[in-house]
Amino acid sequence: MRLDKFLGEQGIGTRKQIKEYVKNGRCKVNGEVVLKSDVHIDENKDDISFDDVPLSYSRFHYFLLNKPAGVVSATTDGRNTTVLDLLGDDYVKGLSPCGRLDIDTEGLLLITDDGNLIHKLLSPKKHVDKVYEVHLRDSLSDADITKLEEGVNIGDKKDDGSIDYTLPAKVEVKDVDNEGRPVIFLTIHEGRFHQVKRMLEAVGNEVLFLRRLSMGPLKLDESLLPGDYRPLTDEEISILTK
Ligand code: URA
Repeated sequence: MRLDKFLGEQGIGTRKQIKEYVKNGRCKVNGEVVLKSDVHIDENKDDISFDDVPLSYSRFHYFLLNKPAGVVSATTDGRNTTVLDLLGDDYVKGLSPCGRLDIDTEGLLLITDDGNLIHKLLSPKKHVDKVYEVHLRDSLSDADITKLEEGVNIGDKKDDGSIDYTLPAKVEVKDVDNEGRPVIFLTIHEGRFHQVKRMLEAVGNEVLFLRRLSMGPLKLDESLLPGDYRPLTDEEISILTK
C-alpha cells in the first residue's frame, strides 16, 4: 500500500499534512528516512516509524472491555446502553461484541470488527474455554460438582429429541465473597444461552453474581474497572489470530 495511505490510517494526519511531514524527514521505512509519501510499502513486513515511534498495522480493531452490569451486549438497543456506546470516540463502523453476556453479567468482552476471529471464538465446534467467576446462593456438594463436571440437563434437546447435556466442565471451589456467598470458578467449552445460570439451576442452586474472567487465551485485565476498556496488545492479537 502507499505510505501516505498507511500513515493516514494510523491517524498521523491528512494526505496533505502527511506529504509535508514525510518531506521533512519524519518517517522511516526499515530504518531509512523516506522523503516521498507516495512510495509503496509492505504494511505487513516493513518496519515503519514516525518521529521514531514504530507503527504497527492492523486492518481490524480489537478492544477488551470489562463489561459492567446494566449494559447490553448488542450493537443497537432502543432502551439500554450497549457495549458499543461505551467505546465513545473509539467506535468505528463494523465493530461488534464477540458473543453475549447477560445484562447483569460483568467481565471480559472482546469487541472487534474481525469477523473471522469472532467466528473462530464462537464456533460451537471449536470448544473455546470460557472461565466464569460465579457467586452462588448455596455451597456446592461434591455430588453437584460431579454433575456439573460430567454434564447436566439444562432443558436443551438434540434434533432427535434426546436430552442435550452440557459438555464436561471444570469446577474450582474458591473462598466466599465479602457477603459470605460461596464462589466458584466454572470453566465451560460452549456458549449456550444463559448457560452458567441454567447449569447452576440444574443442580438446585442460583447464581447471584457472574463475571467472565477469560475466553480462550484472552484474560480479563484486572486493572480495568467495570466499564473500562483498552485496545488489545499486539501480543494478544497475534495469539488470538494465529
Ligand atoms: N452464562 C450465563 O448464564 N450468562 C452469561 O452472561 C454468560 C454465561
